Amino acid sequence: MTTDAVRRHDPEIKTFASDNYAGVHPEILEAVALANGGHQISYGDDVYTEAIQEIFRGHFGERAEAWPVFNGTAANVISLRSMCAPWEAVVCAESAHINTDEGGAPEVTGGLKLLTVPTPDGKLTPELIDRQAWGFGDVHRAQPRVVSISNATELGTLYTPAEIKAICDHAHELGMIVHLDGSRITNAAAALDVPLRALTTDAGVDVLSFGGTKIGLLLGEAVVVLNPAAVRGLPYLRKTSMQLASKMRFVSVQFEALLAGDLWLRNARQANTMAARLASAVREIPGVEVPRPVEANAVFAILPADAADRLRKRYRFYNWNEQVGGGRVEVRWMCAFDTTEADVDAFAAALAAEMHA
Ligand SMILES: Cc1ncc(COP(=O)(O)O)c(C=O)c1O
Repeated sequence: MTTDAVRRHDPEIKTFASDNYAGVHPEILEAVALANGGHQISYGDDVYTEAIQEIFRGHFGERAEAWPVFNGTAANVISLRSMCAPWEAVVCAESAHINTDEGGAPEVTGGLKLLTVPTPDGKLTPELIDRQAWGFGDVHRAQPRVVSISNATELGTLYTPAEIKAICDHAHELGMIVHLDGSRITNAAAALDVPLRALTTDAGVDVLSFGGTKIGLLLGEAVVVLNPAAVRGLPYLRKTSMQLASKMRFVSVQFEALLAGDLWLRNARQANTMAARLASAVREIPGVEVPRPVEANAVFAILPADAADRLRKRYRFYNWNEQVGGGRVEVRWMCAFDTTEADVDAFAAALAAEMHA
C-alpha cells in the first residue's frame, strides 16, 4: 500500500442495522479504478455515462434514459419534481420513505405536496389510492398527479408485477402517472425471480429511482425515465438540485459493473437469502416474534427491549417501533450483499444467548 491513510475500522465486523452499513463490492471498486487516469469530459459527457445508457435500455426498454445522481433522496425528489407542476401532488403510503425518512426534502427542496394513505403492509392498492385521488379540477385541492410506490417497501414487503400493473392501470385511467422508489428494486426482482423490467417498464411505471448504493456501489443512484412524456426538465432539475456530479464517470462506471453482467442479481440474492436464513433462525428462539412477512432483505422482530439493548452492545441495529407495549420493541434487521451465513448464525446465537440472560 502506498497511501498515507490509516485503516480505522475492523473490516471483519458486520452489523444488521442497514444495507447502507456495508462497504463497496470489490468488482465496483475495480471498475472505479478502471475509470481512473487520464482526463474525461466532466458533468456527464464522458464515455462511461454514455455507455450506461445502452445498459439501462437493455434492462428497462428502448425508451429508458438514466440520470445518475448521488443519493436516493435526490433520485426521489428530482423524479417527483420532474413529474409534477407546482399545483400538483403525490399520493404515497404513509410509511413511504419520501414521507418518513427524507427530512422533509420532498416538501422543502421539491416544494411537493404529499397526500399520504395509511397501509397495513406498506403497499398501496387501487382502492387505497382512491382515498387521496380525488378533487380533480377543484382549485382548492392540490391536484393528485403522481402515485409513488416503493419496491421493496419500507416494511420489507414486495409488490408483484401484477400488483404494480393494477396500480399503474388505475393511475393512468385517472390521468395520473407512477413513480417507483426502487432503492431496493434489485432485491425485489431477485426475490420474485423476474427481470427488472417486469416490475417497472412492463407494468407501466413511468419513472424509477434506481438504487445502487444499497446493493454494493460506493455511491450512486439513478433517475430512470421509462416514459419520457411523464417528465419535464430533468437535466435542469438535476443541476438545480445540486446533484450533477462533475466527475460523473466514477458514478456511471459503477452502474456498468453492477448491471452489464449479473452482479446486481448475485448481490441481491445474497442479501435476500441471508434475510430468509436469519428469519428462520430467530423464529426458533422462544420470545422472539417475526411479525411481518420476510420477502426481501429485511427482517422485523418483536422482542423484549432489554434483550434488544444487550444485543445492541455487540451488533448495531435500530428500533423500528418502541410503542409495542409489554416491555417489548419492534426492531429491524437488514441483510446486505456482504452478509454471510456465518454472520447470520453468530447473530442468531448471540440473540438466543441474550434472550436467556
Ligand atoms: C426505500 C428508500 N428510498 C430512498 C432512500 C434514500 O436513500 P439515501 O439515503 O441515499 O438518500 C432509502 C434509504 O434508506 C430507502 O430505504
